[in-house]
Amino acid sequence: MDSSWTEWVNVIFRFAHVVAGIMWIGNSLLFTWMELNLIKPAKDRDPELLGELDMLHGGGVFHLEKRLMRAEAIPEKLHWFKWQSYTTWITGFVLLGALFLSNGNSLLDAEKTSLSPGAAAALSLAGIFGGWLLYDALWRSPLRKFPLAGLALSLLVLAAISAAYGSIFNGRALYLQIGAMMGTCMSANVFFHIMTNQHRFMRALRAGQAHDPEYGKRAKARSLHNHYMTFPVVFLMLSAHFPSLYSAEKNVAILLTIIPALMAVKHLMNTRYHFRGWLLSIFGVVAAAALLIAFFLPKSHARPVDAPSVAAGKQVFDTLACAACHLPGGGPIAPDLHGLYGSTVELADGSKVLADEAYLRRAILEPQAEVVKGYAPAMPGFTGRISDEELNALIDWLKSLKKP
Ligand code: HEC
Repeated sequence: MDSSWTEWVNVIFRFAHVVAGIMWIGNSLLFTWMELNLIKPAKDRDPELLGELDMLHGGGVFHLEKRLMRAEAIPEKLHWFKWQSYTTWITGFVLLGALFLSNGNSLLDAEKTSLSPGAAAALSLAGIFGGWLLYDALWRSPLRKFPLAGLALSLLVLAAISAAYGSIFNGRALYLQIGAMMGTCMSANVFFHIMTNQHRFMRALRAGQAHDPEYGKRAKARSLHNHYMTFPVVFLMLSAHFPSLYSAEKNVAILLTIIPALMAVKHLMNTRYHFRGWLLSIFGVVAAAALLIAFFLPKSHARPVDAPSVAAGKQVFDTLACAACHLPGGGPIAPDLHGLYGSTVELADGSKVLADEAYLRRAILEPQAEVVKGYAPAMPGFTGRISDEELNALIDWLKSLKKP
């Protein structure tokens, strides 16, 4: 695999994506926090003052006032917040394109579908853009006046979409897809609603009209959506590190437990200034979600097998979720294992090695000792995690994988 350019994209864009995401989400969390902590001024003091707040930081006090703006007093230097969001989306989209869409096989679950790689990439894109259109239409409809009903319907739609993608995408790609769809809604909220409404009221102000809080309200509603989506999206973006969750057979149910649970946690965090039981409630939500997830997880990892056989090896391969990284056809994450046995493998240090039985054994037990050229040493070692019988069965299964 010639991975040099994807590796560059991976390193640069992933880093930029994470940093921009931290800046954006940090803003979202800080602004919501400030909003919740604003102290309402005495009624007769200043009708344009909405609230104020003092914050200790960096050796001084930031005295902050939130106020309506007057046309004749538009600050000369007014800060807008948008590039953190746009940068996060753009870098994320490039990453998705370079690492997944360019090789649609990396999205698919070969056991569930025979879709072509191109169709998989198209489906992923359709979800990303279609998901926004659907979400936006839902929250433009009169339903927006009933936020709880809107939330319930949004989660139902999300459940249907997750189930649909779960029936063709592998677990890792499913979680990434849903994360990318939600992240796209967040950025589009900034672009189409938050910025647009801010531009509208600034234009009105400059035209000498009064500050119409209605625009601000609309922008704020979408800001709040974004705020509640932050935890689920961060979780889904990290989910590549949670193979036990995404590769579980019931990965859709697990996903649909995690998303509302994290929204509830964020909500409870926001209630801490007037709800005493907030912390206990958070523990309660986390415990309930963990119980539910434990119920959805496979009951035992790596069942013991009695006879070394190809079929048993396939079972071990499935239970240990090897396919979460080793996709049929290969990909940027891990090499294809078809046709590996008996071939010559080039290692990262430039040496070559024959993929015989002993090599397969070493590659599973101590993958870091010999790393395949073009790949990160990302495979977990399985020493102590599988029995000898399981290992033998696994090797028999790997030997049976011929190049298609
Ligand atoms: C977290 C991702 C991940 C998981 C899970 C994983 N692998 Fe790997 N595997 C890799 C990566 C990355 C490489 C290439 C780098 C290396 O050689 O360590 C690799 C390399 C290999 C190789 C050598 C391939 C070659 O071309 O020489 C074998 C064999 C292998 N894995 C088998 C397995 C088996 C069997 C399992 C399940 C028990 C498994 N892997 C689980 C990521 C993974």
